[in-house]
Amino acid sequence: MKNYYSTFVPSSICAVGLCFLLTACGPAGNTGGPESSAAKKQEQDSGPSGIYAMEIEPLTPVECGRCHNYQFKWLQDKGGKHQFDCTTCHEQFHTYNPRKGNWDEIMPKCQDCHDLPHGKDFPACMECHQQPHAPKVIQFDKLDKAVPGQEGVVTCSVCHKNEGAEFARLPSKHNTEVNCQGCHAEVHGAIPSCLDCHDPHMKQQEYKDCLLCHSPHSAADIKAYPEEVPNIACGACHETVHSNLQTNVTKHSALQCATCHPTHGEITTCRDCHGEPHGGELHKRFTNCLDCHMDPHNLPAKTQS
Ligand code: HEC
Ligand code: HEC
Ligand code: HEC
Ligand code: HEC
Ligand code: HEC
Ligand code: HEC
Ligand code: HEC
Ligand code: HEC
Ligand code: HEC
Ligand code: HEC
Ligand code: HEC
Ligand code: HEC
Repeated sequence: MKNYYSTFVPSSICAVGLCFLLTACGPAGNTGGPESSAAKKQEQDSGPSGIYAMEIEPLTPVECGRCHNYQFKWLQDKGGKHQFDCTTCHEQFHTYNPRKGNWDEIMPKCQDCHDLPHGKDFPACMECHQQPHAPKVIQFDKLDKAVPGQEGVVTCSVCHKNEGAEFARLPSKHNTEVNCQGCHAEVHGAIPSCLDCHDPHMKQQEYKDCLLCHSPHSAADIKAYPEEVPNIACGACHETVHSNLQTNVTKHSALQCATCHPTHGEITTCRDCHGEPHGGELHKRFTNCLDCHMDPHNLPAKTQS
């Protein structure tokens, strides 16, 4: 309770309090009658009376907010999980004295409740969380500083270790020409679209399609795409193969490109799927199936003559 008997008592709080107490106690004081005077007498004997007869109730956040509109508004709009009672953090307040220079001493400390959530690299909480009453409002330029001693690495990677590690392991032009803060620009957490900077391989492709084959954090390394990736997406670059498979309808035409090419450039052999269907003799003479079958994308077999 020590807080409420502070040395600093602004005059408006007295005015508000006084009005409240007068309306609350005034009528009771005026009802008169023998019983009430007796009670009053007793009260005088045993303790405070009149305007001092009440317990002081702690101020609610709204009451603090009457004077501290700015802090209250931040909490109201962007307080997030900090929307609890002011005095949970401000165990003491109105005790600042410029002569003592005790500001830092009386202010709440993040670490009393949080310890070091981002590890020992980030001890100075309020460098980034500049507004404790809106703890997730973070100025972007505090985050994209270079990490000393590590060329081309920005602070982002210290927290986002997975993306940082992928960047380092499989570098692309994104490392040198864009970097984290070039894509995730301006606001922390913003996610860009590839199409902000690139044309698609073909008209009907959308942003989400890009991620089937590319990771933004290792863009030059084509990832293991899912088997359902549409054949037309491959056809955007391999036009002839795609149109052969489409137009010369064989049982291969029903297959996905990715079934025979599970990663980019990988080729599953005929034998992986068919074994040696024509008997040992023939296959000894013609080791290459394509001597007769010409093209997996353009079956069936050329008749030997
Ligand atoms: C999550 C903890 C927390 C809560 C809840 C909180 N504050 Fe604060 N407040 C702080 C911290 C930390 C500072 C210190 C800022 C600094 O060191 O400059 C602060 C500073 C202040 C200041 C000094 C001026 C300023 O903005 O730096 C005032 C006034 C203040 N708070 C009022 C309030 C009021 C009123 C409420 C409730 C409506 C409230 N605070 C709720 C943590 C909190
Ligand atoms: C009647 C107006 C009024 C009310 C109500 C009020 N304050 Fe203040 N408060 C002030 C003034 C005036 C100052 C000094 C100037 C400044 O820093 O804004 C101050 C300063 C502060 C400070 C910074 C300096 C210090 O000594 O702590 C904090 C923190 C603070 N108030 C918190 C609170 C909290 C929490 C509440 C509610 C429990 C509250 N105040 C209620 C007027 C008020
Ligand atoms: C009195 C204890 C207390 C103090 C002091 C305090 N916090 Fe918190 N903070 C909490 C609690 C409790 C939560 C909610 C935790 C949860 O639900 O996971 C929280 C949540 C947060 C969040 C997440 C907010 C959200 O909406 O998701 C951030 C960021 C944060 N605190 C930063 C800070 C910083 C920075 C400081 C110092 C300026 C600070 N806190 C001071 C108790 C405190
Ligand atoms: C380099 C900038 C930076 C520093 C320094 C920093 N933080 Fe953070 N903090 C962030 C960012 C960015 C987030 C993510 C905010 C979001 O989710 O939008 C965050 C999130 C949090 C959260 C939310 C919990 C979570 O993991 O989602 C808490 C709590 C927190 N910080 C507390 C602290 C405390 C306590 C300190 C000091 C010991 C501190 N931060 C120092 C940038 C920083
Ligand atoms: C101090 C630690 C910290 C720093 C520095 C930091 N972040 Fe974050 N970031 C977080 C936390 C915590 C979250 C929220 C929790 C989560 O989703 O991992 C987050 C969330 C994100 C998200 C959203 C993730 C999602 O799932 O939507 C992106 C994108 C992001 N950060 C990018 C960046 C970039 C780019 C930088 C550098 C400019 C950066 N961060 C700097 C801690 C940090
Ligand atoms: C070329 C643009 C680009 C660059 C450069 C880039 N990112 Fe991303 N990042 C993205 C896109 C796009 C996504 C969304 C990917 C998705 O949805 O799978 C993303 C997602 C993320 C996420 C959220 C991951 C998740 O699982 O939710 C984080 C965190 C992140 N990036 C951090 C970073 C960091 C750190 C760097 C630098 C080392 C970086 N990014 C560099 C474009 C980029
Ligand atoms: C902020 C702009 C920006 C965004 C967003 C972006 N890129 Fe890039 N990207 C570039 C620049 C700049 C280059 C290097 C110049 C060039 O090749 O056009 C590049 C290069 C590439 C390369 C070639 C890499 C190399 O090393 O050869 C690929 C692949 C690529 N981007 C794919 C993507 C994909 C996929 C996405 C979405 C996940 C994406 N980019 C998002 C700007 C961007
Ligand atoms: C089916 C897989 C696939 C999809 C889907 C895909 N890409 Fe690609 N992309 C590739 C392959 C493979 C390469 C490498 C070609 C090479 O080696 O020259 C490539 C190369 C690139 C390049 C660098 C070379 C160039 O053409 O400039 C960029 C940029 C690129 N893709 C952007 C995108 C974007 C944007 C999308 C989404 C609209 C996308 N990609 C969707 C497979 C794909
Ligand atoms: C952006 C254009 C692009 C897209 C999209 C693309 N490729 Fe390619 N692909 C190339 C280029 C360029 C080469 C040759 C250079 C190389 O090996 O990277 C190639 C090589 C190949 C090879 C190896 C050829 C050989 O001679 O070894 C196969 C197989 C292949 N691609 C299949 C696919 C499949 C399947 C898809 C769809 C999942 C696909 N490609 C999507 C551009 C692309
Ligand atoms: C039934 C399996 C199968 C299917 C389906 C298939 N391929 Fe192939 N592909 C192969 C085999 C086997 C080879 C190797 C042929 C050789 O050795 O000459 C090959 C070779 C290639 C090559 C390199 C040689 C060339 O002909 O240019 C490319 C590019 C290619 N395939 C792309 C594709 C694309 C794109 C699709 C889907 C439109 C696709 N493939 C569907 C089995 C398949
Ligand atoms: C990923 C497995 C796979 C690979 C690799 C593969 N095939 Fe097939 N092939 C099939 C399937 C599945 C069928 C359809 C079988 C059925 O319906 O009975 C088929 C059918 C065929 C047929 C019959 C076509 C028709 O329309 O009747 C021929 C001929 C054939 N394959 C030849 C080859 C040759 C030659 C190669 C190598 C260049 C090859 N296949 C590679 C899976 C594969
Ligand atoms: C000497 C020429 C020749 C060679 C070499 C050859 N085939 Fe064939 N294959 C044929 C002929 C001819 C047919 C029948 C075509 C038809 O029915 O249209 C055939 C049919 C097939 C069929 C379809 C069978 C069916 O029951 O429908 C498959 C699958 C097949 N071949 C796979 C292979 C594979 C795998 C190899 C290599 C290991 C291979 N072939 C090598 C000539 C050849």
